[in-house]
Amino acid sequence: MLTGKRILLIIGGGIAAFKSLDLIRRLRDQGALVVPVLTRSAEEFVTPLSVSALAAQKVYRDLFDLTDEAEMGHIELSRAADLVVVAPATADLMAKMAAGLANDLASTLLMATDKRVLIAPSMNVRMWEHPATRRNLAVLQGDGVLVVGPDEGNMACGEYGPGRMADVPEIIEAVGAALGDGSMKDRHVIVTSGPTHEPIDPVRYIANRSSGAQGGAMAAALRDLGARVTFVTGPADVPPPAGVDVVRVETAREMLSAVQAAHPADAAVFAAAVADWRVENASGSKMKKDGSGNAPALEFTENPDILAGVARMEEGRPKLVVGFAAETDNVVENATAKRLRKGCDWIVANDVSSETGIMGGDENAIVLIDGDGAESWPRLPKAEVAKRLARRIADAIGAV
Ligand code: C5P
Repeated sequence: MLTGKRILLIIGGGIAAFKSLDLIRRLRDQGALVVPVLTRSAEEFVTPLSVSALAAQKVYRDLFDLTDEAEMGHIELSRAADLVVVAPATADLMAKMAAGLANDLASTLLMATDKRVLIAPSMNVRMWEHPATRRNLAVLQGDGVLVVGPDEGNMACGEYGPGRMADVPEIIEAVGAALGDGSMKDRHVIVTSGPTHEPIDPVRYIANRSSGAQGGAMAAALRDLGARVTFVTGPADVPPPAGVDVVRVETAREMLSAVQAAHPADAAVFAAAVADWRVENASGSKMKKDGSGNAPALEFTENPDILAGVARMEEGRPKLVVGFAAETDNVVENATAKRLRKGCDWIVANDVSSETGIMGGDENAIVLIDGDGAESWPRLPKAEVAKRLARRIADAIGAV
């Protein structure tokens, strides 16, 4: 089930650390490669030697171990993994993660990683129920950290309640879910997202109200199906999801280059709100009032249509090209015409009139238009729209 997956396992200093030895074995039974990291206090509970023997890997222990930096720096170590698992995640480790501290190897890896993080909390019941841990948990969940457990039961300290680390089979199941159901394994999808900024001069630009929420949700949903996602994003309000290859751009022309560089791909989803025009006479230095009362005249020129370009590629066209259409009236008619004009396979159309609250909001009501006609979906959270679209994309490219 986990064949070829590389798991960075951070073992925190709690009594449940002994269960992590079994976790290493079970993860390896499933075909995973486990790279273990021990915190200082974890070494009081399990020895580096037993961890290393069970993982059949070197144990990473110290941020300032220069041999390790030469071999594999901490940034690379944190990113070479497919998933980062923290088990046991102590109250202290959770607090560090929530606060963004990076003062030892484990916390630095957690700050430096661009991969998903799954934690298996383990602590005394009072510590678990403490308002500080509640707060930290909420922060971590808001940051997209996945959580498994804790379970309720008798604790090593003699108390009863929630705080026991989840059992190993439960953690393995959560690892499998975090790595995706695998139906899009070995598939590559390009997703564009967010607005573009078109400069007027070095400090001013033209932009639009796209938040990047739907594009980010699309990338996350495709990742959850196991796809490799290249996420080309303009300056969006929402941070990019973890576990995707992020390429940050500003202008439409930069977005075009990034999309071209990301090929070949099995599918491409164009959720970005690309500026149709850029300022042709953009100034290299800040434009100043000259006291004459005359406003500068901006001249516009059309930006390349990235979607249309990819949809009409003669060689190496992705099997499925999906465009988005933000419309304010005659949604279906306009989007149907747009599909033909752009040459894409599907158009995901939505009504972005201000009264719908869709642009910048949490929900979306879409019409999916393909060669057979239009299908209206109910109003759903953007994450749910993304999940359903991702599943349809997997079906369409035969990745099931
Ligand atoms: O023409 P319009 O901007 O309404 O088309 C929307 C679709 O085309 C979106 O999928 C958007 O990402 C894509 N697009 C593009 N490059 C442009 C303009 C739009 O990829 N220059």
